[in-house]
Amino acid sequence: MAIVWRRVCIIVGLVALCFLGIPIRIDDNESQKRELFKGFLQRFNKTYEGNETEYMKHYNNFKESLNIIYELNRDRLTEHSAVYGLTAYSDLSKDEFLHLYLQPRLPEHLNVMKQKQRHYSHNYYNAVNERAVVDGLPLRVDWRDRNVITEVRNQKTCGACWAFSTAATIEAMYAIKTGLLHKLSVQELIDCAGNGNMGCEGGDTCSLLHWLVDKKINIEFDNEYPLAWRTQMCKLKGSGHGIQIAPNFTCEYLVDSEDVIMMLLAHHGPVAVAVNAVNWQNYLGGVIQFHCDGGPEHINHAVQIVGYDRSAPVPHYIVRNSWGVEFGHSGYLYIAVGSNLCGLATEVSSLDVL
Ligand SMILES: *[C@@H]1O[C@H](CO)[C@@H](O)[C@H](O)[C@H]1NC(C)=O
Ligand SMILES: *[C@@H]1O[C@H](CO)[C@@H](O)[C@H](O)[C@H]1NC(C)=O
Ligand SMILES: *[C@@H]1O[C@H](CO)[C@@H](O)[C@H](O)[C@H]1NC(C)=O
Ligand SMILES: *[C@@H]1O[C@H](CO)[C@@H](O)[C@H](O)[C@H]1NC(C)=O
Repeated sequence: MAIVWRRVCIIVGLVALCFLGIPIRIDDNESQKRELFKGFLQRFNKTYEGNETEYMKHYNNFKESLNIIYELNRDRLTEHSAVYGLTAYSDLSKDEFLHLYLQPRLPEHLNVMKQKQRHYSHNYYNAVNERAVVDGLPLRVDWRDRNVITEVRNQKTCGACWAFSTAATIEAMYAIKTGLLHKLSVQELIDCAGNGNMGCEGGDTCSLLHWLVDKKINIEFDNEYPLAWRTQMCKLKGSGHGIQIAPNFTCEYLVDSEDVIMMLLAHHGPVAVAVNAVNWQNYLGGVIQFHCDGGPEHINHAVQIVGYDRSAPVPHYIVRNSWGVEFGHSGYLYIAVGSNLCGLATEVSSLDVL
């Protein structure tokens, strides 16, 4: 009994360390890692019993995650810096994570569409003198405080982040305009969006907005067209039902112009952005300042920014993800302002509803 309890304590201790993100050195101690893995499986209610191949595959991925977590935590500058540790995704290989939860690469025709849309986008925000404007911006903006943000959703293994992030932004703009907060049908977007979007297989926020406007699509409420987490036959209803977005949406490349993002957040509303989320696999909390490459070739996910905090020790955006409330800070994460971290300024969409 005593031995069992000591073991439990060791496991709990180690797991707690990982969760708190204290950069411990995981020694090359196989039995210790085995115990840690058992604790992990229990905590996340996973079982690979009865299939040794499967078990070992996940165990090896898990060990790789331990190394990655150690590396990521080593560069923490302050207590506010991002903390990495074991998450529900820690026993996936990087490749599995990419394929299950992200979009490894957008199909060629989507990239072509995006080139076209750059020209289509409305650049009125770029015309203003950014510096002068940003000086007058509030230090802190958080649209969650104004009852215009719906609850965080979970896309599960449906790769429709492009639809989740856009729907969340339309919901917010509708609530800002009317005072009514409604969940909109992400499933309608998954099933019906053209312009190269491919339901749960991937898509793009700009291409979606373009389609919504071109086809004057009415987006229904969620309860009328509920989420199924897979691509189904499109069931578009006739006109006059649901919410339409205004033709003057923006979809812009704002790298080196993040002041414009903050201005949009302060004076307009939440925005949908494309990001690189590879290193979010083991994110627990805190502000991401490093290890989040922003190159356009690494974009593989889309999220919503609901605010920023320039008064924080590490000024950051408040970013809403679609991996459920278990992820990060109740479904949210923080990303430092100013250097296109995670590529969040690569493709920024703002919109109004009619
Ligand atoms: C490995 O860790 C276990 C406890 O989990 C400990 O009993 C054992 O002595 C360690 N072995 C080595 C070589 O450090
Ligand atoms: C654990 O998983 C089993 C089977 O998938 C499920 O029935 C059970 O409710 C889960 N328990 C928790 C605490 O998630
Ligand atoms: C074990 O899992 C692998 C996939 O990792 C699968 O190919 C194999 O069929 C499974 N074996 C059994 C006995 O279920
Ligand atoms: C875009 O169009 C909507 C609806 O016509 C209007 O209310 C809104 O002010 C416009 N937005 C901008 C930024 O011009």
